[in-house]
Amino acid sequence: MIPERTVQQIIETAQVEEVVGDFVSLKKKGSNYMACCPFHNEKTPSFSVSPSKGIYKCFGCGEAGNSVKFLMEHEQMSFPDALRYLAKKYNIEIEEIETEEGKQDRQVRESLMIVNQFALSHFKDNLFKEDEGRSVALSYFRSRGFTEDIIQKFELGYSLESGRGLLKSAEEKAYNIDLAKELGLVREREGRKYDFFRGRVMFTIHNLSGKPIAFAGRTLSNDKKQPKYINSPETELYNKSQVLYGMHLAKRGIRKADNCFLVEGYTDVISLHQAGIENVVAASGTSLTEGQIRLVKRYSPNITLLFDGDAAGVKAALRGVDLVLEQGLNVKVVLLPEGEDPDSFVRAQGKSGFDDYISKEAKDFIFFKAGLLLEEAANDPIQRAKAIKEVIRTLSKIPDAIQRSLYVRECARLLQTSEQLIIEEMNKLKAAELKKKQAVADRRRIQVERAKTRPLNEANIDDANFALMQLESDAYEHFEEDASGFVHRIEHEQDKFSNGGRAAEGPSIAKRPTGIDHCEKELIRVLLEHGDKAMGLEEDPEELVAVHIITEIEEIPFQNADFKTIVGLYVAELEEGKIPNVNYFLHQVEGRINKLVIDLLASPYELSHNWEKKHGIFLRGGAKRYQLEVGYLLNNYKLKKVNQMIDENARVIQSSEDAKEQQTLLEAHLRLLAWKKELSAKLNMDIVR
Ligand code: GTP
Ligand code: MN
Repeated sequence: MIPERTVQQIIETAQVEEVVGDFVSLKKKGSNYMACCPFHNEKTPSFSVSPSKGIYKCFGCGEAGNSVKFLMEHEQMSFPDALRYLAKKYNIEIEEIETEEGKQDRQVRESLMIVNQFALSHFKDNLFKEDEGRSVALSYFRSRGFTEDIIQKFELGYSLESGRGLLKSAEEKAYNIDLAKELGLVREREGRKYDFFRGRVMFTIHNLSGKPIAFAGRTLSNDKKQPKYINSPETELYNKSQVLYGMHLAKRGIRKADNCFLVEGYTDVISLHQAGIENVVAASGTSLTEGQIRLVKRYSPNITLLFDGDAAGVKAALRGVDLVLEQGLNVKVVLLPEGEDPDSFVRAQGKSGFDDYISKEAKDFIFFKAGLLLEEAANDPIQRAKAIKEVIRTLSKIPDAIQRSLYVRECARLLQTSEQLIIEEMNKLKAAELKKKQAVADRRRIQVERAKTRPLNEANIDDANFALMQLESDAYEHFEEDASGFVHRIEHEQDKFSNGGRAAEGPSIAKRPTGIDHCEKELIRVLLEHGDKAMGLEEDPEELVAVHIITEIEEIPFQNADFKTIVGLYVAELEEGKIPNVNYFLHQVEGRINKLVIDLLASPYELSHNWEKKHGIFLRGGAKRYQLEVGYLLNNYKLKKVNQMIDENARVIQSSEDAKEQQTLLEAHLRLLAWKKELSAKLNMDIVR
């Protein structure tokens, strides 16, 4: 708990342009700052930050708020975490009462950090103060051209050959050896403890605030059986997929250059840095993850990949890049001359040579890939066709339609085919994907059906009855309140609209929809807005939202005749392999539906963008907003339907005279309740209170 007056103090002290500026590259425009909005994809800046008002607002997507809100939305911090973050940034002391659990987590992390900091100073001392380190490691770094400054800046070090250096020092200084083991610094075999890093030059891996969270050790021996690098394991401090080597030193450079160089090796980062190229990070031997891409995106939407001159690694690396495109970043690729890596290249050519080379050789990723694949295919027509298909697959990953169409044009020229053909192929690709997904969805549906019709026997009927009582007593009302609460809230919002409270901003909604009507409407909205994106479900991450929604509602058709028509039209297009969007409905269908669609998109737009906040839902690990939204809307729609069926069934049970019929109805009732429970649980999982 943070005391109210401290909360006020924090909010008053925080400078919105500084807080936002740590994550978004802001450009000063008069008394305000502008940037491309970090909350939606855009090419021209409509995100504005007003220092005098202490707020930001995007005129494109409508996101707005103060420093705290920004951290909550952009960094997905909780309210208290956002406050703590700001307090730290502005040196405001918080006397707060911690929860026991939070306290323990923090203490664990802090004590791990203390041991890592000890290890770091141990490795540094080895390098500078021990004879072994000076003669073996320091001379090695020097021979690579690293200056003392840069060695200090990157906190390089050395681990002693003996295999007991760190352990001994830790014991002497009474550091917790169990923690050292947890951090992978110390190992134990048959009761004997020893150092994990032995006779290696040490690279420190830092978090964004420059604290040591892990280490990598490079061997100095030429023994091919030795791994060249060994790394700390993942720990509470170190989540490999969220870390980029050198980011703590590159942040500012990336923002300033509005570009991030991505290299492969630790030494590449260090050498470039030393040459004055500071906007550089490494993914340290792994292929890029989504978390790492998001990290870069905080500072710039532009990324330039530097590949060593041997083409072997390049092709493998290319695969990962589609992921970068999907995230809406602009990707450039530079292939270094044969036999060079960024480290050797910049040492030979210096900064100006490097800059010249980059500006001459940087190729747009897609064209680079197209060129590479075509070159490989040479004149083999089958390989050529394969290459073209591969390029088209990449093209289909570009989220921005306008950008995509520009690339299609250019690639058509490069591949010597027509734009039309590329577009058709892209559609075919989507249709094929659709079919595959459909098959998976079908299988899943059959499984669900089977589960639902599992017969109830004597034994489990008691269980079921008991469950029914339970459900009736607590879950029933409880979940009802929670899960469909959002519908009421939306209705409430809309009342506000139509009552003129905010009527000037939004079009009024003439007819107040019923609950189910509204669910249907919302589902159509997400269908049109997000139909062509991946649903990201665990069992089938690529399944399109379109396919997902359509298959999910197949067994529970819409009740509103107009919405049904829209879904009918949608399905017809889907079966053609197309994914109709808003434009389709605006231009190609009869007037009445056309008007409905406009209506449908006009008002909830604003709601849609504040969706999480409105429904008290926050993004869980990795899920995208629209994915959660679709899942939530579907489950909620189903829940409404199931409730309706339950009511209906209850009425029929009461009016039934026939004992046998009653029994059948009761069984149906139980199944419905079980289904309801399942849905409620799913919904409840998404609700953070
Ligand atoms: P130098 O050869 O000293 O210039 O090192 P480098 O950093 O340039 O290494 P290299 O180009 O061979 O590899 C690039 C990156 O891949 C390294 O920085 C490491 O992150 C990673 N890597 C290379 N070899 C290994 C290995 O044996 N094990 C692990 N875990 N990672 C490695
Ligand atoms: Mn190298």
